[in-house]
Amino acid sequence: MKEKATIEQYQESAKYLRDRIGKTPDIAVVLGSGLGALADTLTDPIVIPYRDIPNFPISTVSYQKGEMVIGYLGDRLVLAMNGRFHFYEGWEMWQAAYYVGVLKLLGVSKLIITNAAGGVNENLRPGDIVCVRDHLKLTAESPMRGANLPELGTRFFDMQRVYDRDMAEIAHRAAGARGLSLTDGVYAFMSGPQYETPAEIRMLRMLGADVVGMSTVPEIIAAAQCGISVLCLSAVTNMAAGITGAAITEEEVLETGAIIRARFVDLLSDVIAASKGAQE
Ligand code: HPA
Repeated sequence: MKEKATIEQYQESAKYLRDRIGKTPDIAVVLGSGLGALADTLTDPIVIPYRDIPNFPISTVSYQKGEMVIGYLGDRLVLAMNGRFHFYEGWEMWQAAYYVGVLKLLGVSKLIITNAAGGVNENLRPGDIVCVRDHLKLTAESPMRGANLPELGTRFFDMQRVYDRDMAEIAHRAAGARGLSLTDGVYAFMSGPQYETPAEIRMLRMLGADVVGMSTVPEIIAAAQCGISVLCLSAVTNMAAGITGAAITEEEVLETGAIIRARFVDLLSDVIAASKGAQE
């Protein structure tokens, strides 16, 4: 395992961002595959490529921009992350979650995590949006394995409240007001980069998963340790393996992401606007 970052490295990343942004963002949003469009709607944007941030990993996924966009949505200062770090790219779990610790040191207390996911629950359809309320991680690794940094949180920490009830409630209200269907579900983390086998998907369904994907969970675990409240929204880009029998391709995932994009951005915008006051 590549040695974990020190608190000084986290602090250096946070200091760079603080100096560039000048103010604590009200909320951070991580934009999953094909869902980067929200960043384009922010006003007075400051764009910070990940390569400019000391100690930050640099995303290798070709269609993710690898930059932060900090700007306003109404009166809310939003830090949007366009591109994230996946275990399948070769990053350690702690590297996939590194930015969460940096957000904590920046003073961010609310995070919206989005992702593209396969539908495991057969009632779902491509294009649906799922509000993730819990997860399954079948791999042994944790991003918090190894030396603990007490500045970020305690060695052992509770996982029962990281999926924030108030934020989920806000998302349901916002979806309802727009006539969008939003169902609650459980996200199963698979390490990828291969999509799953039909047998794996049957197993995940038996275990209670509704959607499956290759991101998010390392970050959720870090957020739980850091005391950051999370809303997690999955865009169902395809039915998971074995359901329709059709091959699952990256093109399909991105195409469906593009179809969902407008709805997704509308929902995110409403949630960000409404999240004001929820915990403040
Ligand atoms: N499996 C894993 N990750 C995914 C999928 C899938 O079917 N679709 C989008 N991301």
